[in-house]
Amino acid sequence: MRHLLSAGDLSHREALSLLDMAEEMHEVQRRPIKKLPALRGRTIVNMFFEDSTRTRTSFEIAGKWMSADTINVSGKGSSVSKGESLRDTMLTLDAMGVDCFVIRHASSGAVAQTANWVRACVVNAGDGQHEHPTQALLDAYAMRQHFRASGVREAFEGKRIAIVGDLLHSRVVRSNVLLQRTLGGQVTLVAPPTLLPAGVESWGVTVSHDLDAVLPQADVVMMLRVQRERMAGGFFPTAREYSAGYGLTAERLARVRPDAAIMHPGPMNRGVEISSEAADAANSRVLEQVSAGVAVRMSVLYHLLGGEGGAR
Ligand code: CP
Repeated sequence: MRHLLSAGDLSHREALSLLDMAEEMHEVQRRPIKKLPALRGRTIVNMFFEDSTRTRTSFEIAGKWMSADTINVSGKGSSVSKGESLRDTMLTLDAMGVDCFVIRHASSGAVAQTANWVRACVVNAGDGQHEHPTQALLDAYAMRQHFRASGVREAFEGKRIAIVGDLLHSRVVRSNVLLQRTLGGQVTLVAPPTLLPAGVESWGVTVSHDLDAVLPQADVVMMLRVQRERMAGGFFPTAREYSAGYGLTAERLARVRPDAAIMHPGPMNRGVEISSEAADAANSRVLEQVSAGVAVRMSVLYHLLGGEGGAR
């Protein structure tokens, strides 16, 4: 693995290898002293040109726990704010001898473009409305843990995964669909017609506008955030009406099977796409997703930079 730009680039073997190693990394996360020498001498630059809590922090923790030197760069406070191009910024940092760039950018495709310019490896930490591959991996990890805890050995094959909400503006949905296509999950997308991405009929998924009908069938219910910051027009009349049609409300929670996992990549809009009753339910796996984020990102960084894969 040279870069991680798209969940669709991962073979079945690579995806499972990343998830398996994340299990070992999760053990480290549970130790009182969380330090491995695996990436000693490696330098990782986290470049976030868009806001983030979970992804930026967990990549930084992941790098530090594996003894890498980690540096954070944001658009504000760097020479990008003086008009320097993304290409010149990347070439400048690459010339300093950086080993890996973890990049979030508002423009779809920008992260993949950077990989053409630099010698270092590049991880896509979310590009516009395009992809967020480590989110899909951590979601898969949390699903696998959930199924195992329920005594189910076969983790993904044939599992019914409902992804619900503002799919038009979501990078999480595309990466999850691509990864689950590789792992064997059956994805149903649920959204109002105005919030479905163009070309979704070619994604190899089922599409529904009836959340009440989908919920009782689902092994996983993944609610996605309504991304108001990316909405210029009226995609739905009011937040209240959106919630009535597509929110996991307290009333609708009764339609979710007790053994199904409720997931949300965060940040959550409580009371819009998910109620507090659902977010905090016994079968909610929201915090397990966050916890998995560190282990999965340790695994990704190790696959890219550790051992022989790290020789450049
Ligand atoms: N899920 C996710 O990417 O969250 P952040 O925006 O906080 O990183």
